[in-house]
Amino acid sequence: MAQQSFGLIGLAVMGENLALNVERNGFPTTVYNRSYEKTEQFMATRAQGRNFVGAKTIEEFVASLERPRRILIMVKAGKPVDAVIDQLKPLLDPGDIIIDGGNSLYEDTERRVQALEAAGFRFIGMGVSGGEEGALNGPSLMPGGTEASYEYLAPILTKIAAQVDDGPCVTYIGPGGAGHYVKMVHNGIEYGDMQLIAEAYDLLRSILGLNAQQLHEVFSEWNTTDELNSFLIEITADIFRYIDPDTQKPLVDLILDSAGQKGTGRWTVVSALEQGVPVPTITAAVNARIMSAYKAERVAASQQLTGPTARFDGDAKAFVNKVRDALYCSKICSYAQGMALLSKASQDFNYNLNLSEISRIWKGGCIIRAGFLNKIKSAFREQPQLPNLLLAPEFKQTILDRQQAWREVLVTANTMGIAVPAFSASLDYFDSYRTANLPQNLTQAQRDYFGAHTYERIDKPGSFHTEWTEIPEVAAR
Ligand code: 6PG
Repeated sequence: MAQQSFGLIGLAVMGENLALNVERNGFPTTVYNRSYEKTEQFMATRAQGRNFVGAKTIEEFVASLERPRRILIMVKAGKPVDAVIDQLKPLLDPGDIIIDGGNSLYEDTERRVQALEAAGFRFIGMGVSGGEEGALNGPSLMPGGTEASYEYLAPILTKIAAQVDDGPCVTYIGPGGAGHYVKMVHNGIEYGDMQLIAEAYDLLRSILGLNAQQLHEVFSEWNTTDELNSFLIEITADIFRYIDPDTQKPLVDLILDSAGQKGTGRWTVVSALEQGVPVPTITAAVNARIMSAYKAERVAASQQLTGPTARFDGDAKAFVNKVRDALYCSKICSYAQGMALLSKASQDFNYNLNLSEISRIWKGGCIIRAGFLNKIKSAFREQPQLPNLLLAPEFKQTILDRQQAWREVLVTANTMGIAVPAFSASLDYFDSYRTANLPQNLTQAQRDYFGAHTYERIDKPGSFHTEWTEIPEVAAR
């Protein structure tokens, strides 16, 4: 009987947890998985005694759902999403809604929206952030597609999302691939945050020699501050406290320093390059993961390429505080880049994004959740057309007050030969953004010299070309 409110395809951990979240909030749910054993197992364990139907076939799955159907797909991004859509299409009725909750590339989502809407169906590309725990207890949701489809889903989405002081962590993001675009940039920012935290850790352990317990204390303290309080700082503090039961050593010290990545950070950088938006901190974060994966080569190089032997002889406590300031200033620059990218994408793709609302729904549920996002929300609420977060009064003042500490940290890192690519990229972003006269007048001269690409002048209008080897006669005085 077609009575189930919601359908979910794909019972990996995220799928299972989202299904449990939806059902717990009062919506009878049907689940379907490619291999039925997984469904049976779910039905016999976590779904026991609850309002679930475990469909054996996709036909049974579709037939069990009330119309227009709401079907959430939680499968691996890429071809598996298309495969599920192809399987569903012949069984659906006009107006049914398919929601893709994976980390799909926004361009794939645009393509799917067009194809499905043309066939009379509706498609929502929805970013879901918060990992396994968020999926179960309240994620941050970034749905894109038509507003009418969102409205139909809203009673469910607003209930399953994380709840913060100013509402549920979900809002209508925009048309087409907007939801997945915003999720992609969320992940780019996530990469930036994680790399900045990793660099702060490296400075504290390599320059001050702090051990895991001391690092736990520093990060726990930072997590109590209004500025840095966040999920990522909190889990960092937890990580430093964890002792490996086999060796009795801090587990973090036993983990290979070679980072993985599934692609969303790289996509953010590619999209930013295509749209001409500088995102150097996020780029540095992606590059840092790539460099980290060159483990064997780095180990070999470390035997040959020596660095400085300088020792730190400053005040350790003061240095810890300077690193905290440098981290916060760098973080502001990283978010400034991410928000600038969203703003440009909004214009280029007609997404009509509300940056204040997006900041609000990132306050809870997602990986970058932080008290700091409230300040970003307010900044964009007060000035929706703010060209750059660095110009918002609160952030401007913070950086002006702390830039001295930030610069000192970078000088110390450079003097001691510690790589801080994201801290450096952030400071360079700040310094170039605040510079009225950059040296690209010379770049233009070079381009004109070797390629007759022409240049503009600051003293008169027009486009100019010069034969650079024909030295003009100096006008007689
Ligand atoms: C989230 C996370 C989630 C996932 C990332 C990890 O918002 O919940 O971003 O989507 O953990 O895809 O990405 P990497 O494997 O690329 O680090």
